[in-house]
Amino acid sequence: MPFRPGETVLQAARRAGRYIPHLCWHPEFAPHGSCRICTVKVDGRMGAACTVRAASGLEVQSATEELNAQRKTLLQMLFIEGNHHCPCCEKSGGCKLQATAYLLGMQDSHFHHRFPVRVRDLSHAGVSLDRDRCIRCEICVRASRALDGKNVFAIHGRGIESNLAVNSPTGLLRDSAISVDDAAVRLCPTGALMAKGHGFEAP
Ligand code: FES
Repeated sequence: MPFRPGETVLQAARRAGRYIPHLCWHPEFAPHGSCRICTVKVDGRMGAACTVRAASGLEVQSATEELNAQRKTLLQMLFIEGNHHCPCCEKSGGCKLQATAYLLGMQDSHFHHRFPVRVRDLSHAGVSLDRDRCIRCEICVRASRALDGKNVFAIHGRGIESNLAVNSPTGLLRDSAISVDDAAVRLCPTGALMAKGHGFEAP
């Protein structure tokens, strides 16, 4: 597969028309390497395709039964860790988590649901935040900084207890610098951040 100097395996694959499933990677930002959905085998060793540099002679495996089974398990963990009720979610049809689950043939959640109750923020006139749908990909964090020129979001805490924090005096969206047309809202891959008044727009 041809590649340009400095490209990652995921970027080179994408340019060659090969899709490697991914959630926390976005073409406009530096790789984050946190979701591990893009894990591939490079010369027999596991690596995140979004961070491993392409090089000549590398043998990369992606769409194998083993790797897709691992991806499915990671997805199932994401699904039970939050509240992703696809059939009644306004982002259904436009959600990358849901699309990836379809792609990998995920039929059930396998693990016990945790049913978390995290604080929802509906305080803003135009933007809603449902933390139970957040997969901590930090795309909104990066988009707010790099594209919106703001610094509205940060991840607070670690591991399963981590949460999306809003940078404002009250911690509420209404007192932050966010606006409804921000890239942070537009690029959220799930229904965690949404423009109010929009929903069920994709079949
Ligand atoms: Fe590579 Fe998330 S897309 S680790």
